[in-house]
Amino acid sequence: MNALLKGKKVIITGGSRGIGRGLVLACAQHGADVVFSYAGNTSAAEATLAEALSFGTRIFALQNNAAISSEAERLVAFTLEKLGGVDILINNAGITRDGLLMRMTEESWNQVLHTNLTSCFFTVKAVQKHFLKQRSGVILNISSVVGASGNAGQANYAASKAGLNGFTKSVAKELGSRNIRCNAIAPGYIETEMTGQLDENTRKAWTESIPLKRAGTPEDVAQLAVFLASDMASYITGQVINVCGGLQM
Ligand SMILES: NC(=O)c1ccc[n+]([C@@H]2O[C@H](COP(=O)([O-])OP(=O)(O)OC[C@H]3O[C@@H](n4cnc5c(N)ncnc54)[C@H](OP(=O)(O)O)[C@@H]3O)[C@@H](O)[C@H]2O)c1
Repeated sequence: MNALLKGKKVIITGGSRGIGRGLVLACAQHGADVVFSYAGNTSAAEATLAEALSFGTRIFALQNNAAISSEAERLVAFTLEKLGGVDILINNAGITRDGLLMRMTEESWNQVLHTNLTSCFFTVKAVQKHFLKQRSGVILNISSVVGASGNAGQANYAASKAGLNGFTKSVAKELGSRNIRCNAIAPGYIETEMTGQLDENTRKAWTESIPLKRAGTPEDVAQLAVFLASDMASYITGQVINVCGGLQM
């Protein structure tokens, strides 16, 4: 296998489970050193850490709440201390607090917007000065197809992802002249603990509506992420690219 990220230093938020775990493993497999954060599930983080270390690069896990600005600064400082630099930031940490508008509380609105969107503002601010100094850097934001389509019962989540798409394009425009690229990946229905919360009927209906007739895997998302993070994608910025089995065209 070509090691597309050999020697690159990567930060991944929410890397302990689901898509984040897939991102950590794929980056390690492609030769990158990785610092990943997680919210609180230490046993999942330790399992991912052990698996990723088997690829022979430097991997560190840090409990860190991406939704707090000082925590984003701490995550970047930890990475600089452990890896001696940072080349790639992948904003993956995200949550859902689904519900119809009628029942959606201000608290669940704020939690989702903070964790999924404001967190990316914090981490990008925290790495920006290092990227500017080295005149290179890659930012990948894990969005969702519902950021473009909307979804009943997910007004908070869809708004956070639509905001992330706009943030991605703005960062790409603002930092492109400094050789800093910023793209978003919009997964469709990917099998993780997040979608495991959906009831069986919803999962069946989603799968039926996907042209490729299957849910996606974290690896499906991670393969695009590795490509976009690598020098093979050096002329791609400001894009929101779906990984959804054709669910959204
Ligand atoms: N699954 C899908 O179908 C799907 C579709 C479209 C987009 N996405 C997006 O893909 C991303 C990952 O989703 P997933 O399905 O893999 O979710 P998941 O299985 O629930 O995993 C979420 C990860 O984020 C971490 N996390 C949560 N809140 C955090 C915080 N405040 N600070 C740092 N880390 C935090 C969790 O840490 P702990 O383990 O410690 O809790 C965990 O590692 C999200 O942005 C999600 O919106 C997912």
